[in-house]
Amino acid sequence: MKKEKIILTGDRPTGRLHIGHYVGSLKRRVDLQDAGDYSKMFIFIADSQALTDNPEKVRQNVIEVALDYLACGIDPTKATIFIQSQIPELCELSFYYMDLVSVSRLQRNPTVKSEIQMRNFEASIPVGFFTYPISQAADITAFRATTVPVGEDQEPMLEQAREIVRRFNYIYGETLVEPEILLPDNAACLRLPGTDGKAKMSKSLGNCIYLSEEPEEIQKKIMSMYTDPGKIEGNTVFTYLDAFCRPEHFERYLPDYPNLEELKAHYQRGGLGDVKVKRFLNAIMQETLEPIRNRRKEFSKDIPAIYKMLQEGCEVARAAAAETLADVKKAMKINYFDDKELIEEQVKRFASSQE
Ligand code: TRP
Repeated sequence: MKKEKIILTGDRPTGRLHIGHYVGSLKRRVDLQDAGDYSKMFIFIADSQALTDNPEKVRQNVIEVALDYLACGIDPTKATIFIQSQIPELCELSFYYMDLVSVSRLQRNPTVKSEIQMRNFEASIPVGFFTYPISQAADITAFRATTVPVGEDQEPMLEQAREIVRRFNYIYGETLVEPEILLPDNAACLRLPGTDGKAKMSKSLGNCIYLSEEPEEIQKKIMSMYTDPGKIEGNTVFTYLDAFCRPEHFERYLPDYPNLEELKAHYQRGGLGDVKVKRFLNAIMQETLEPIRNRRKEFSKDIPAIYKMLQEGCEVARAAAAETLADVKKAMKINYFDDKELIEEQVKRFASSQE
């Protein structure tokens, strides 16, 4: 088995992407893409996985997510961007993996558990939703991914995928590649809170700053952000600074302070108001988001070209997934028509039974 380094990751198209996605994963993907340490990179829009949500919403957001990718600098000449539902091989793999996982193991998956609660599914959990860790293992293994950059909420999914790989390889022989998770490297980026200080950015809470957000909106959201005067720990404004602030921002926008440590120290001593810190954060966010927003507007002038790029990505992805599926069927010995030995074996068996 070749030991190529391959990256795969994806997002559910349930809305436009926001700055939580950006610091948590999009920025990293662009760095990984440009560093060239990986021979292949697959990035996909997980529309099938999102269909337990409103299907029309998913359909509308496929293109929004594609635009967000391109706006952030994901380059379709370096990374294969595709749509999950267009790769039927993933369904076939999922079906075979279903025999490798018990119902109780799925019930114990913490991500599945908490999502069931969040969506009030307790009374009637869709089977497809319940089994989505299996389909996610198919997404990952189909592309022989070695490295999966995702947020920490996805850790149980990766663990379950690794178990499926080990079980498959144990039963059928070394076939699948065991993936590793790649978490964001900055603690503040692990999970960026909403502007209201709540643990998660979510459209329904109205506490997100989107990558496509206009400058006035960004400013409004930052100036009304949740703070905790005198405290740094759990203070959203400082969490955002931890995630976005770089040394040169001080030179440019707040030359009275040499670095973030000094700014924090002053805030804790008292005598430094929220407004000043928020204005600083606003300057940084405007600088960070302006080029992204502009690129997004440029790309959105030619929507048919985006669909064409996605279609080409799907073709490349399908070819890769088909190779893995062929390996899987061979390992499982359900590749009857390519199996010369099988035919010979059966010829002999029937010949001897007729003697
Ligand atoms: N579950 C992921 C999310 O909610 C999306 C996803 C689906 C994914 N399949 C994947 C991520 C495979 C990484 C690898 O964000």
